[in-house]
Amino acid sequence: MDTQKKVRKLAIMGGTFDPIHMGHLVTAEEVRHEFNVDEVLFVPTGHPPHKSHINMTTCEHRYLMTVLATAANPYFKVSRIEIEREGVTYTIDTIKELKRIYGEEVELYFITGADAVHKILGWKESTELLQLCDFVAVTRPGYNKEELLRKVKMLNEQYETNIHFLEVPALAISSSDIRRRLMEMKPIKYLVPQEVENYIKKHDLYDYNIQLTEDEKACMYDYVASKLSPKRYAHTRGVVEMALEYAKLNGIDYDETFIAALFHDIAKELPTEETLAICDKYGIALDEYERTHPYLVHGKVGAVILQRDWGISKPSILDAIRYHTLGRLNMTDLEKAIYLADMTEEGRSSYKGKDEIKRLAQYNLDRAMYKALVSSNNYITNILKQEAHPIINELIQYYKQFDIQED
Ligand SMILES: [Fe+2]
Ligand SMILES: [Fe+2]
Repeated sequence: MDTQKKVRKLAIMGGTFDPIHMGHLVTAEEVRHEFNVDEVLFVPTGHPPHKSHINMTTCEHRYLMTVLATAANPYFKVSRIEIEREGVTYTIDTIKELKRIYGEEVELYFITGADAVHKILGWKESTELLQLCDFVAVTRPGYNKEELLRKVKMLNEQYETNIHFLEVPALAISSSDIRRRLMEMKPIKYLVPQEVENYIKKHDLYDYNIQLTEDEKACMYDYVASKLSPKRYAHTRGVVEMALEYAKLNGIDYDETFIAALFHDIAKELPTEETLAICDKYGIALDEYERTHPYLVHGKVGAVILQRDWGISKPSILDAIRYHTLGRLNMTDLEKAIYLADMTEEGRSSYKGKDEIKRLAQYNLDRAMYKALVSSNNYITNILKQEAHPIINELIQYYKQFDIQED
């Protein structure tokens, strides 16, 4: 007997599942219960069209983790339709294919994040899509529901569609948090099913060293060139070259240095309003000084852009970009290398002490940091006649201990 015949109500749970976690499973179970569906079908995505595949775990790993995570629930199934489809995947194609597989009369509930509801009209063939299935918009607690409810009401009225709304507490968990925790060697127990944790550990999935191919590097260069003026891009290339030299001489990871240097000023030429809008959207906290000197925020915003556009979430790289403008206490060698390369690249006009900073950075990053900070501070206070950010003095006090005289 064909088991698919029995499914009259089907919920569809799409996602990258990179990795699948308890939030997904609790959501699926909640939808099953609330809407009394016969089956929840998990549909892992193929390669998303505009995300780099660097760091995107292969489809097969994501698929298998999803299978492992759902195996114990007889109402959960996993589909390969998006993984096996060539090219860009659109929701409408998936829905139509499921109608073919399960029969035209099947009632479909498409589970989606609440944020997606705002964008639904921009999806491919959205009018038809809204007729073909119900939507279940899930939110994490604390989400501003008012605006969402207005939108849902409008869509329900105008398109005679059914958009339901469901709050799921466990949605506070996110895949990117789990990847970050793994990279920081923090536990993920109870955030993902045990089988998924075992699978991740066995295949070393997120504890990776980034290794770029020549093609990927070329793509990154093109991307950065397209975002910066020729002058800023030339500076950036200078920083890449200098930072890689410091990396080689100080034993710092080469590819991490490459990415951090290449993207360090990626947000430098964004208009102030856009910079502040990104801070707002991504919850980037700014101190008083940064608020009055918004050009300093390009490091923090640059880290967000690298993560957003390239899917790179390795904390060491993001922090090197984030802190290249002001520095911070307890800087890593990578952070120091980027900070110093920014100040000493060949194209940067000469200033007193530049050559010495460059020479020191080749074998003692801390001594170089001291000289660089003093030089920055002098420039800001004596040339620009401004007050420097308080962190600069704090850092000067800290790095002073490394300023020993050479024999
Ligand atoms: Fe910068
Ligand atoms: Fe720079």
